[in-house]
Amino acid sequence: MNDRIERDGFRKGDLVVVTGGGGGFGRAFCRRFGRMGAKVAVWEINEADGAETARLVREDGGEAQFFKVDLSSATQIDAAVEATTRAFGTPYCIINNASIYPRAPIVEMSGETFERTMRVNIIAPFLIVKAFGAAMIANRRGVVLNIASGRAFEGAPNGIGYATSKGAILTFTKTIALEWAKHNIRCNSIVPGVSFTAQPLENTTPEELVERGRKTIPLGRIGYPEDMAGLAAFLVSEDASYMTGQAIAMNGGRVLIS
Ligand SMILES: NC(=O)c1ccc[n+]([C@@H]2O[C@H](COP(=O)([O-])OP(=O)(O)OC[C@H]3O[C@@H](n4cnc5c(N)ncnc54)[C@H](O)[C@@H]3O)[C@@H](O)[C@H]2O)c1
Repeated sequence: MNDRIERDGFRKGDLVVVTGGGGGFGRAFCRRFGRMGAKVAVWEINEADGAETARLVREDGGEAQFFKVDLSSATQIDAAVEATTRAFGTPYCIINNASIYPRAPIVEMSGETFERTMRVNIIAPFLIVKAFGAAMIANRRGVVLNIASGRAFEGAPNGIGYATSKGAILTFTKTIALEWAKHNIRCNSIVPGVSFTAQPLENTTPEELVERGRKTIPLGRIGYPEDMAGLAAFLVSEDASYMTGQAIAMNGGRVLIS
């Protein structure tokens, strides 16, 4: 039956902004969207990694540019917003993906470290969404994807700043979804489980990480960046055009959030 509903979704040539685009998930998001025909803005603090992601997207036949930005700085975020808009226009999709995960017991965690974690993990997503918001609203289409964590649901011993920021990103997601639904802009969170990227490898070896997946994850393996990229591709597509404000877990069944 033709229900006469126009389902908006990602179109070739749309701009996708990926923070932390030089990292594990970030690079997979950039490459996936590049192959789908997006213009990709790779936002990254690490110059070599960001430039390499942009190169890989172009090697795959896509269009990408690297923008160096330290997300703990509001001034640098403003500059990256301006440079991205000048190069590519208004984003269809923003992926708030970058995060830091400093580890220390609560009594040893410095106020500065906690504050920096909040700046990168939750204040930066706010500043980015706010800065691009007016133009996205004027376009009457767009998607915001926020990368949360199972830690938002379980807490993180020795990672209080990280866990707190990931809890906040869920409420941030719901609020954008409700406030911008009338502008045809959707917002959802991806909740990844432990995956093969640099972040968990900060305190374990690759072998231990893979073994942990075999032993503790119901589907018998850890996650990989491509798992998250597949979910992101669905969430920007017209097949997801009726989904907003949700947290969707991709974690092999390890944390059941519903
Ligand atoms: N890998 C996992 O097991 C896992 C599990 C749950 C959630 N996540 C989340 O997935 C997202 C991606 O993480 P990842 O696993 O790919 O880690 P990663 O360390 O590979 O990537 C993070 C990227 O963010 C960049 N970054 C850090 N601080 C920055 C700053 N101030 N300015 C700009 N860029 C900065 C890093 O340079 C890095 O390239 C994060 O939000 C993380 O919390 C990861």
